[in-house]
Amino acid sequence: MDKFVIKGGKPLKGTVRIGGAKNAAVAILPAVLLCDEPCVIENLPEISDVTLILRALEYLGADISYINKSTVSIDPTHANAFVVSKSIAEGMRASSYFLGALLGRHNKARVAPPGGCDFGVRPIDQHIKGFEALGAKVTIENGMVEAKAPSLSGCSIYLDVVSVGATINIMLAATKAPGLTVIENAAKEPHIVDLANFLNSMGADIMGAGTGVIKIRGVNHLHSTNYSIIPDQIEAGTYMVAAAATGGDVIINNVIPKHLESIIAKLTETGAQVTEYDEAVRVKMDRRPKGCKIKTMPHPGFPTDMQPQIATYLAIADGTSVITEGVWDSRFRYVDQLTLMGADIVVDGKTAIISGVEGLKPAPVKAVDLRAGAAMIIAGLMADGTTTVEDIEHIDRGYENLAEKFAELGADIKRIDDHSEFRIIKEA
Ligand code: EPZ
Repeated sequence: MDKFVIKGGKPLKGTVRIGGAKNAAVAILPAVLLCDEPCVIENLPEISDVTLILRALEYLGADISYINKSTVSIDPTHANAFVVSKSIAEGMRASSYFLGALLGRHNKARVAPPGGCDFGVRPIDQHIKGFEALGAKVTIENGMVEAKAPSLSGCSIYLDVVSVGATINIMLAATKAPGLTVIENAAKEPHIVDLANFLNSMGADIMGAGTGVIKIRGVNHLHSTNYSIIPDQIEAGTYMVAAAATGGDVIINNVIPKHLESIIAKLTETGAQVTEYDEAVRVKMDRRPKGCKIKTMPHPGFPTDMQPQIATYLAIADGTSVITEGVWDSRFRYVDQLTLMGADIVVDGKTAIISGVEGLKPAPVKAVDLRAGAAMIIAGLMADGTTTVEDIEHIDRGYENLAEKFAELGADIKRIDDHSEFRIIKEA
């Protein structure tokens, strides 16, 4: 198992380039199944979730060829299978998007329940409600979710909770369903807009993505397209927070500053200097942050996927901070790891109270999930001394070339595997 070894305590300085958005990529790739011709997808992040989705597409019969590291050509013409097995589905949450995409393509789908980060219960009842409203019968048998319909037709759906996954899955199933589908109380995240733009670039008729009401008029045919995925809002936010947390000065390139507003607002409130450019932001910090209050919410609120990273930054604040998790039941499992590094955090249900300490101390810690893993990297960069971060396969799911990107900013971070460590010890 690989781990990261970080010698922290140095301010990050320089420029980092942000890759394509994970949560857009994992929706757009299954959406290619709705197309009747080959598509080219650009700006794909080099992360293991993307590799897994591409493997699933191949398994379903699509032809995949890489044009370069971040561009792939996908020909779905012969994708005749409609089953996604447990071994593929359990690796990530986004495998559930094959339900909507396969239902839209074949009027039937059988997909094992999705995996992904552990934040407590992660139901898919709103996805199922949407498929049923479109005319599908959904059953769960032998550990597989099966959705089937003689035909789908447009309908009105009100989501009981604002769900990114349900909004995406219903959009996928409805794109080719005859008639008008209206999703009310839809999620508004940038990746929802990106998926709608991708589908529209193939000839779909989707309006309102990015607002609470999305209208989809079903079309018969989707044609080939070349599409470039938006930059990753959360990867950008992670480097912004890392810059501030280390007292650094970093330009984060290839971003859409509008997507970063809530993160910019909170960093500014804590005393960081943030400058916005057309496609970049610069974050500068030269003191301990001030404590602040944050509540995570669906977009455009402060993203839950930035909660562990900002909590780590606030661990060294001059004052007390309060973070309330407004999306997931259980997203504070990383706090035990931060406590090992000297943070003073008390969790009560969905609220964490952070009493700022002067600095974090190095320690061996674990990545308990993807964003928690990113938070441990930031903590290691903040702490003066050597921190090791284990279980980094979680981080690989969503951050491309993380060690290389931080090293470009002057960090002393290395990825090692236990084998190479063993070899070094033997040789010595
Ligand atoms: C997406 O997960 C993201 N994953 C998550 O990012 C992110 O944390 C989350 O949205 C919220 O922004 C992907 O895009 C692949 P939801 P998703 O459905 O779609 C409840 C990361 O770190 N709910 O918006 O699974 C649910 O329990 C990952 O990149 C229902 O009750 O999230 C939660 O409380 C981790 N019934 C809330 O809605 C449902 O049918 C939001 O969940 C669906 C969801």
